[in-house]
Parts: sequence; C-alpha cells; structure tokens
Amino acid sequence: MPATTEDAEPTVLDDAFMQDPYLRYARLRADAPAQRVISRSGIPVWVVTRYAEARQALSDPRLQKNVEGTKKAIDNQLGEGAHRAEFIDDLNAHLLNTDPPDHSRLRKLVLKGFTPRRVEDLRPRVEQLTGELLDELAGRGEIDLLHEFAFPLPITVISEMLGVEQERHEDFKRWTTALVNGADAETINSAGAAIGEYITRLVARKREEPGDDLVSALIAAADGADRLSEPELISMAFLLLAAGHETTVNLIGNCVHDLLGNPERLAEVRADPNLVDDAVEETLRHESPVNLATMRHTAEPVRLGDVDIPAGELVLVSLGSANRDERRFDRPDEFDLSRPSTGHLGFGHGIHFCLGASLARLEARIAVRGLLERFPELSLAVDPAELRWRPSTLVHGLEELPIRLS
Ligand code: HEM
Repeated sequence: MPATTEDAEPTVLDDAFMQDPYLRYARLRADAPAQRVISRSGIPVWVVTRYAEARQALSDPRLQKNVEGTKKAIDNQLGEGAHRAEFIDDLNAHLLNTDPPDHSRLRKLVLKGFTPRRVEDLRPRVEQLTGELLDELAGRGEIDLLHEFAFPLPITVISEMLGVEQERHEDFKRWTTALVNGADAETINSAGAAIGEYITRLVARKREEPGDDLVSALIAAADGADRLSEPELISMAFLLLAAGHETTVNLIGNCVHDLLGNPERLAEVRADPNLVDDAVEETLRHESPVNLATMRHTAEPVRLGDVDIPAGELVLVSLGSANRDERRFDRPDEFDLSRPSTGHLGFGHGIHFCLGASLARLEARIAVRGLLERFPELSLAVDPAELRWRPSTLVHGLEELPIRLS
C-alpha cells in the first residue's frame, strides 16, 4: 500500500526540517521505506528514507533523470507558480540530469579529467593552497571557517581546473548560493542568467586561446567525433563548477563541526592524524553534504520494499536518511571513527556516482588535517544551538561556522 503523509504532515521539507532533518527521517523510516510528502513549494514528491531501498532506487533504470522530471524538480526549487526561465533548463541539461545513452557519452568525455591519477597530480597544489590559506588565518582570533577556509580551497581548485579567473570566485559563490539555497524565482533566474553568460564567454575565450584546462579539453572533445553540443558544454562546465565547490565546502565544514561536537573523537584524531581520513569518511555518512538532492523520476511504476510508486512521480532519494538507517548502521546517530568506512551513500550509488569523489576526499583530508595541525586549540566560537543550517534541499551545510583559532 502506498504510504502517504499528505494529510498528517503536509510540509515535511520545511525550514524546521532543514534545521534538524534526522528526527523526521527517523519517523519516516519507521513508517515505511518511502513516502509521498508535499514539499514546501506544494509539489508532491516521494522521499526514500531506508538504506536498502535508497540503494535500490539509485541503481534502478526505471528511476530516471528525464527532462520532465528535471523541470518538475526545478519548479519545486523555484516555488509554486513561479516562472522558470528557459536558460535555467539549458544550464540544467547536464550529465547529472541525463539518462543513458546521453549520460554514458557525456560521462566518458569528462571522466578523463577525474581519474585517480589526475586527481593525485593535484595533491601538491591542494597542499600549497591549504598552506597559504592557513598562513592568512594565523594571528586571527575568530573566523567563519566556511567563508574563510572551507570555501576558497575547493572553488580555487575547480576554477583552476576549468580555467576560471580568481576575481570571479566571489561572483560564483553568490550565484550558486542563490541557486542552491532555493531563493525566490527572480533571484534564481537572474543568478542562472549571470552564470550562463559568464560560462558562455569563458567557452568562447577558450576556443580562441585553448589552455591546459578542462574546458579547453572539453571543447576539443566537443569538436571531435565524440560530439558534445555547445549547450552541453556550457551546462557541463556549470555542473562541474557548482558540484566542485558547493559540496566540498560542506564536507570540510561538517567534518570540523562533527569533530568539535565530539571531543573524544577529536582527541583520537589529534593523537593519530591518519584518522582524519576516517573522520572525513564518517562525515560523509553522518552529516552527508548531499542529504536530499538525489532526484529521480519514475518512468514506469516501481515497487520499493512494500511501497508502490506510480509512473510519472518525482522521487527524492534521501542519502542523509539512508546513511542513518539503523537497519544498516549500528548506533547511526553517533559519529564513530571505528566503524567500517565503506557502504555509505554519501557520494551516491550507481551510474551517477559522484565523479568528483576522489577530488573531494583529497581536498577535505588535506584541509582538515592541515587545520588541526596548525591550530591545536581550535574551538567553536558560539553556542552550538546558535548554528543554523542552510535552507536547501540540495546541500546540507551550515550558514556559518564561527571558530576560535587559539
Ligand atoms: C554526482 C556528492 C564533490 C562532481 C554526485 C552525486 C552525489 C555527489 C551524491 C550523485 C547525485 C545523484 O545520484 O543524483 C558529492 C559530495 C561531494 C562532491 C558529497 C563533496 C563532498 C564533487 C566534486 C565534483 C563533483 C568536487 C567535481 C569537481 C559531480 C558530478 C556528478 C556528481 C559531475 C554527476 C555524475 C553523473 O551524473 O554521472 N556527487 N559530490 N562532485 N558529482 Fe559530486
């Protein structure tokens, strides 16, 4: 029987939920593996909350990323009755929103830039950038860790990979924050237009003067036999820029937050800095930076566990809930460095498994380790109750993380 919370709990994805999703996830999981709820913009969506069904949903070809589903998902972001500008559709026509065979073609084109070898080659640069950022922080009393450390690192790395100039980093932050936070439709449309325009110019510039960067490599591929159309190229660059920093900033932030909130775990990591790798992996499970954004659309009816989802429905696979499912993880709400680090769904699963997973891990491990080594007295500068999570269904991260350095 399809479970529905439509009557009892019509707006599950509201601000209270964003601030503390885990209690509601636990209730949803206890009731059924998936439920139909009404999102804050009034659109009905199915939320998959149990681990086994989430994993199944992510690898089931009947759950797709088709055009209709993507448009519905964007409308959900924009709010009820809002106008969705055409270029927003164009920007979103990327890898993450396509199905095979287009998905396989697009992924193959960009995969070359993210092989473990290519990512490992970035290590010295990531270490150097981390060192420079930490040098700038030395002598400062209190900082917002997100704005002054966790954000500049990944945006610089992905911008250098793609060939975006440093002076545009803050613009990108503003634009993607508007898109990701689900601001009003006008803000979203104008941020989308600004990003679209910037990337179109970037591509034109790289066509004129190719460099040793990913956009130039994609242009070469676009013009070759593999065929990447101009709109595909632009939306691919957009996806890489957005996915390349919006998520990693929160992995770094959530990891530091988890460590500061668990002094015993922090002491373990201080005693053995190699445990930073486990802390990063446990953060991907415990405070998954992509908590609820994995959107699918049912191309035909699908049964998940004992729940029947009809065709034509929007489905959100909650990685954040699956990663706290007591059926899969012992004491799931505990931040525990000794649990096996495999099996979490923090980077998704199946054909859309995060392309940037090795890069995100590399950056977060170097960043957190460097921070703890440089500032042994690091502590939270506010009462934990004052911290606010971003009101986003796309990413799970704090608005600010005020930290005292010494
Ligand atoms: C896909 C998480 C960092 C690029 C995904 C998905 C997840 C995810 C859950 C799958 C979404 C779905 O199935 O609907 C994360 C997290 C990150 C991170 C938690 C950091 C902590 C990055 C970075 C990049 C990146 C650094 C690139 C530089 C992508 C791309 C896809 C993707 C291109 C789409 C893959 C496809 O559709 O085949 N990511 N990501 N991500 N991610 Fe990441």
